[in-house]
Amino acid sequence: MSVYAYQDRQFWVESVSFQQLAEQHGTPLYVYSKRAILDDIRRIENAFGSIPHLTYYAVKANANRVLLQMIAGEGLGADVGSKGELHLALTAGFAPNKITFSGVGKRDDEIAFALEHRILAFNVESTEEIEVINQIARQMGARASILLRVNLDIDAGGHAYVSTSMRHNKFGLPHTRALEVLRWAAGLSHIEVRGVHNHIGSQILRPATFLQAAEAIAEVVQKLREGGVPVHDVDFGGGYGIQYHGFVSHPELPRETPEDPALSTAELLGPALSVLRGLGCTLSIQPGRSIVAHGGVLLTRVLYRKETAEKTFLIVDGAMNDLIRPCLYHAHHQIVPLQLNNAPHEIVDVVGPVCESGDFFAHGRAMPRMQRGDGLAVLCTGAYGYVQSSNYNARPRAAEVLVSGHTHTVIRPRETIEDL
Ligand code: LLP
Repeated sequence: MSVYAYQDRQFWVESVSFQQLAEQHGTPLYVYSKRAILDDIRRIENAFGSIPHLTYYAVKANANRVLLQMIAGEGLGADVGSKGELHLALTAGFAPNKITFSGVGKRDDEIAFALEHRILAFNVESTEEIEVINQIARQMGARASILLRVNLDIDAGGHAYVSTSMRHNKFGLPHTRALEVLRWAAGLSHIEVRGVHNHIGSQILRPATFLQAAEAIAEVVQKLREGGVPVHDVDFGGGYGIQYHGFVSHPELPRETPEDPALSTAELLGPALSVLRGLGCTLSIQPGRSIVAHGGVLLTRVLYRKETAEKTFLIVDGAMNDLIRPCLYHAHHQIVPLQLNNAPHEIVDVVGPVCESGDFFAHGRAMPRMQRGDGLAVLCTGAYGYVQSSNYNARPRAAEVLVSGHTHTVIRPRETIEDL
């Protein structure tokens, strides 16, 4: 059952009304639901239940300390992409031997920091990186476990910026080079080769894409074994697409239907799992979005209505510095009123105060008529929302609040102009 619902025409999360949260904590405001995040973790764990695996939460999706503590408390591992994320993961309570480090450009100090804290493994992306890790490990008297990220030349669909496994992308090494590179790496004094990694992209909606990746990785594993390189671990990355359109429905809200309806994780990954199950490896996965996106909402308020000959604009107090996904990826986020008013629908652009035409949350969107002071909820913003926010236009970042049942706690205070 969803944690979001209209009761008495007010929009609620768990046992708290969003209107109350907006009044008490101000807007723009990120609100997270503990129940929603825990439910999504359960759904993912159940989808992979039939196969021994470990889930490494991709910290880049949402790095709030309190949420990280909550996720660590569920027994998950963490995949980090920087020293900062590693620091946050360690202080949030993720065990070092449940932390992997991914990314195409790890600095020397980041590698040393990870070795010092004895993380489980590095997902490596170039021969030069492997050499540097070997050198640093030698200097520190340590041994580094590595998985080679292979580029499978697969088009994951969706926005080009989040498709990562095509030949022309910067990520990984061509799968055809895996044997040569890992044979060489296995001979290095301070490297232990554990296996292969791939992450083909994000917001992937088709089971066939994951199946294609699983088949390609199975082929790589087979070739490596035939060539004398043992493969213990396969890290299959993240990227599970989620529902953004029509996430909340009500007779008074416009209906939203996506081009590609989102499937459950079990449906999305089912065909791939039937291949991965047969590999005889420890399976790792790195979901980010599918764990936290549905658990987050950005609250904002209408500052002004502006009607021109061409358009009606709702100018709101949230902006591209708070949520850049619509501008950067033309991402769709459903926007719903905090209070239903039985108003007729109209077509609007929902835009922020920043001095750029790219500062919008929605273009040409059907919504019940809203006016100055009305509160809006921008849905499914728990992933890649706050983490991609900035101080552009010298705007202090929003506060973050965690709801659990009747309680709501500030888990990151709003920045002030003195913080700028
Ligand atoms: N593993 C690696 C190595 C990654 O680079 C990522 C995401 C993930 C796992 C998690 O992927 P997820 O399950 O969240 O799809 N800012 C973009 C998304 C960028 C994804 C970057 N890498 C957005 O807002 O759509």
